[in-house]
Amino acid sequence: MRQQLLQYVAELDAEDLPAYLYDLQDLREHAAAVRATLPERVQLFYAAKANSDPRLLDVLRDHVDGFEVASGGELHHIRTTCPGTPVAFGGPGKTPNELEQALQAGVDRLHIESEQELRLLTALLGERTVDVLLRVNLPIDLGPVALAMGGRPSPFGLDPGHLDRCLALIADDPRIRLRGVHVHLASGLDAAAHLDLADQVLTWARDWANRNGVELTEVNLGGGMGVDYTRPDRRFDWAAYGTGLRRLLEGHPDLTLRIEPGRSVTVYCGWYVTEVLDIKRSHGHPFAVLRGGTHHLRTPAAKQHDQPFTVIPDGTWDRPWERPRAEDEPVTLVGQLCTPKDVLASGVQAGRLHAGDRIAFALAGAYAWNISHHEFLMHPTPQFHHLDHVPVPAGPRP
Ligand SMILES: Cc1ncc(COP(=O)(O)O)c(C=O)c1O
Repeated sequence: MRQQLLQYVAELDAEDLPAYLYDLQDLREHAAAVRATLPERVQLFYAAKANSDPRLLDVLRDHVDGFEVASGGELHHIRTTCPGTPVAFGGPGKTPNELEQALQAGVDRLHIESEQELRLLTALLGERTVDVLLRVNLPIDLGPVALAMGGRPSPFGLDPGHLDRCLALIADDPRIRLRGVHVHLASGLDAAAHLDLADQVLTWARDWANRNGVELTEVNLGGGMGVDYTRPDRRFDWAAYGTGLRRLLEGHPDLTLRIEPGRSVTVYCGWYVTEVLDIKRSHGHPFAVLRGGTHHLRTPAAKQHDQPFTVIPDGTWDRPWERPRAEDEPVTLVGQLCTPKDVLASGVQAGRLHAGDRIAFALAGAYAWNISHHEFLMHPTPQFHHLDHVPVPAGPRP
C-alpha cells in the first residue's frame, strides 16, 4: 500500500470505518499500462460487472475501447455515466425488454447465447439492424482453473453442435450481421494459459468459418485474466500476453480481437479498510473481530480464499483494561455477522495485532462491494473514498 494511503487510513475516524478506498491514480496508471501492451488489432473492453463505480468508469473510459455489460441495468448505467462509449451486451438469460433496450441503445455488439435468444431478437428487430457475435462453449480442456464457465456443461453460450441452426437463421435475416464469435471460458488464467486458449479458439474459429462460408472478422476472447490473491504485488503478465497476441494475429491478418477483462483491471485499485474491534480466544485460537465483514467484502467467502491485508497499527489505547491482542500467531479475521461464514482470512499471520489497529484489505476493487449481501444484519454501509493524487503529508522542512 502506498505510504500516502497508509497515512490517509490512519487518519480516518474509527466511526467512519469500514470504508472503501479507490486509488484512482493507480487505476489510471494500470489501465494505461495494460492498453500499451496490446497490439493495434486488439480492442480492450472493460467488463463492468467487476466494478461499475462511476468514478472508476470515468477513469477507464479514456483507456478502453468500450464496456461489456451483462444486464439492462448495467447497460443503462454505462449509457448514463459514460455516454457515447461503445457497449457490448453479453450474458445469459436476456429478457425481451433487455433485448429491446439493447436495440434502442444501439449497442456495438450483442453476444448471442442461445437459439431462443436469436429468435427473440429476430422477432423484435423490425426495420433495425444489429451486429452480433455467437458465444460458443468450446470443448477445450482448461485444466484446474479458478472459475470455469465453459469447456464443460454450462449455461453459458452455445454448444458448437447448435451453431448450424443459428447460422441458418442468420443467413435468412439480412438485419443480423454476424461479425464472429465470442468465447469466455474461465476466470483466473495466467498469460501462458490464456494465450494457449486463444490459439485453440482462433484455430477452431477459422476452421469453422471456412467450413460454413462465414466471413469471420472478429473474435472476442473474453476476460478471466488471473489475479493471484496470495501475491497481491504480482499482476497478470500483460506484456507477455500482448506479445503473444501480436504473434497469433500474424496468422490471422483479417481478424480483430477483443478482450473483456474485469477483475484484472480494477481489483488492485480497491481497498476495504476497517478496524479491529476485539480479539478473543476460542478453544485456544485467536479471532480478530472487525467492523464490517463479508456483507461488504464477499470476495473471500465467494472465492474461498484469505483476503490479503496490511495491518496499520494504532498506538493509542485509553481504556482502563488490558488491550486485547494476538502476538505472532495464526489469527482468524472475522466480521460482525452472525454466521461462521463471515471470515475474511483464516489462520493467517498478522504479526502483532491489537484491538484498535486498522486493517486494509487489498485487492478489493473487483467483485467486492458489488457482489456482497449489504442488507444482511443492517450494519451501516461503508463510506467510499476516491483518492486521486493523494496529497503527500507535509513533512519536516529541509
Ligand atoms: C462473458 C464475460 N466476459 C467477461 C467477464 C469478466 O471476467 P473477469 O472479471 O474474470 O476478467 C465475465 C465474468 O464473469 C464474463 O462472464
